[in-house]
Order: sequence, then structure tokens, then C-alpha cells
Amino acid sequence: MPRNLSGRSFLKLLDFSTEEIQYLLDLSKQFKNLKLSGTPHRYLEGKNIVLLFEKTSTRTRCSFEVAGHDLGMGVTYLDPGSSQMGHKESIADTARVLGRMYDGIEYRGFDQKIVEELAAYAGVPVWNGLTTEFHPTQMLADVLTAYEYFGYYKGLKWVFMGDARNNVANSLMVVCAKLGINFVACGPKDRMPDDELVKTCRKLAEENHCTITLTDDVKKGTKDANVIYTDIWVSMGEPKELWAERIQLLSPYQVNKDVMANADKDAIFLHCLPSFHDLKTTVGKQIYDEFGLPEMEVTDEVFESRQSKVFDEAENRMHTIKAVMYATLK
Ligand code: CP
Ligand code: NVA
Repeated sequence: MPRNLSGRSFLKLLDFSTEEIQYLLDLSKQFKNLKLSGTPHRYLEGKNIVLLFEKTSTRTRCSFEVAGHDLGMGVTYLDPGSSQMGHKESIADTARVLGRMYDGIEYRGFDQKIVEELAAYAGVPVWNGLTTEFHPTQMLADVLTAYEYFGYYKGLKWVFMGDARNNVANSLMVVCAKLGINFVACGPKDRMPDDELVKTCRKLAEENHCTITLTDDVKKGTKDANVIYTDIWVSMGEPKELWAERIQLLSPYQVNKDVMANADKDAIFLHCLPSFHDLKTTVGKQIYDEFGLPEMEVTDEVFESRQSKVFDEAENRMHTIKAVMYATLK
């Protein structure tokens, strides 16, 4: 059933009902069909959006740009360092200025409270393109990818391996609790999601007939899983000095062929990307030189396997971000 999200910001999934998230997923499928059939959909012609990035990006930036252009909008990109925000102008003032010029604002950066403050002052929809705490647009792409593969998502067992305290793990736990997906955080005890968030998600999970499990046991955690998911071990904004500690702490939670063999035989592997699965990146090489690790959160074997759907997932970022912009700006 169509939902009216017009004028709303998209800051975190906790702000959206199960039905509203389902609506955004349905809309994403429709936009994907339009794109793949070559049907023009310039439904937001004449509108303009601005993309504020305080951290780097490939997928999120390109998704907002292409989706914006496909919808007929003008798009301005402000890279980390090329706006006055934070250095010379407060968040509230920036929001009020941009809100006078643009119909929507995307923000990628640091604390969740920054994106919340932007939204409080902008007077136009603000979309969270990743903060330290959450990465909500990523989740729509992840669930859409699983849905395309399995034909359903409710009741799946979805395991996040590794740094279960980061933005992607937090958001994954929320989306699973909202959509009736059984979520497992599989990692060391001191990299588990925040207690308050776990409590909130467990309550949601009860309402939606699914479970939230936290475990440091890889065998039990990944047994018969339908989706195995991971992310990098040190996130953007964290100091590089953390690598040594994280490698030691998270190496037992690497996604490798044993993990995939312990999961359901039809399990898929997902990763928000970028990923350190080989030595073809500068950081990957530095880690190898310093710690002797040729691959990190996922082995190259799993990343390149038939079970890996990471590039379908990356493509789906664009279709889902388009749905979010359309739903909130139409
Ligand atoms: N997954 C994701 O957000 O990728 P980027 O950092 O490239 O935007
Ligand atoms: N946890 C990662 C996600 C990147 C898309 C980070 O914040 O760097």
C-alpha cells in the first residue's frame, strides 16, 4: 500500500515503521525495473539536491548523483573540506542556508547528532549517507539484494561477522528487527552493539517475531545462516593505530570457506564494500607489510565465489537511494 513519506528526512531506520521500510523496498524494485527497461523517470525535474561529504565515498556518492540525474534533478557535490560547515559555519547555519537553495540534502560524516541537527534546521528532507553510528541507505540495498536472491526476507538468519559495534552492524540489527529477520552479531564481546540499541531492537524483534542474538562463537553463530555479512575492521574516522588491536581481536571472525561451509548450503555472502580481500589496495598492502595479512575481513576466495552477491548489492545502492529521494521529495 502506498505510504506518504513526502517531506520526511531519512536519518535512521528506527524512525520508520516496518510498513514504511517495506514501501521503500517496493519502490526500489519499481525504480530498478524502470532503469533496466530504459524507461525515463525524470519525476523530480526542476528540483536540486546537495551532497555534503565529510568522509570519502564511491558507492554512496555515485548512487546519489546518478539517482538524482535519473530523476531529473540538479546535483551539487561538496567534498570533505570544500564547504564552510564546521570550520567557519555552524551546522544550524549551514542547514538554514542550504535549505533555502536545495530541495534535499545528503550528509555523510561523523556523529549522528550532526545529521539530526541538519534535519532539524534545514526545512527540507535530509538523508543520512553514513554517520559513525548508522548507515541506513545501505540497509535497503542489502535487504533488496537478499530478497532478489531468496524471494523473501522474513525469517532469514542473517549474520554480521566481525566489528559488530560499527555503523553497518548497528543499522543491520535495526533493519532485521523491523523486518522480521533473525539477526546474529558474531564477534568479540567488546565489539558488540551498544546495550541500549540491543534492548530497543530486541523489543522490536519480539513485535516482528524474530530474534537478536549476540555471540562470540563462530560455529554456533553462523550455523545454517542464510546471509553472511561483514565489513572492514577499522571504519572511516577511526585512528589507524587501531589496526593492530582490531586484527588481533577480529581475525577469528574472518569470513572464509569454513564459515560459508557451516552456513546453509544456499547461503549468500554480502559486504557493504569497500573490502580488504586482496593486496590490490594501498591500505591492504600496508597491512600486509606490517602484519603479514594478505586478506582481512573476508578471504578473496569467498569474495570472488558464486555465493558472493556484493556487486548486485552495490548496484542496488542506486535503486534504493533513488526510492528514498523520490518518496521524500515527491
Ligand atoms: N558502502 C558504501 O557506503 O560505500 P562508499 O563508502 O563507497 O560510499
Ligand atoms: N563501517 C564502514 C562502512 C563503509 C561503507 C565505515 O564507516 O568506514
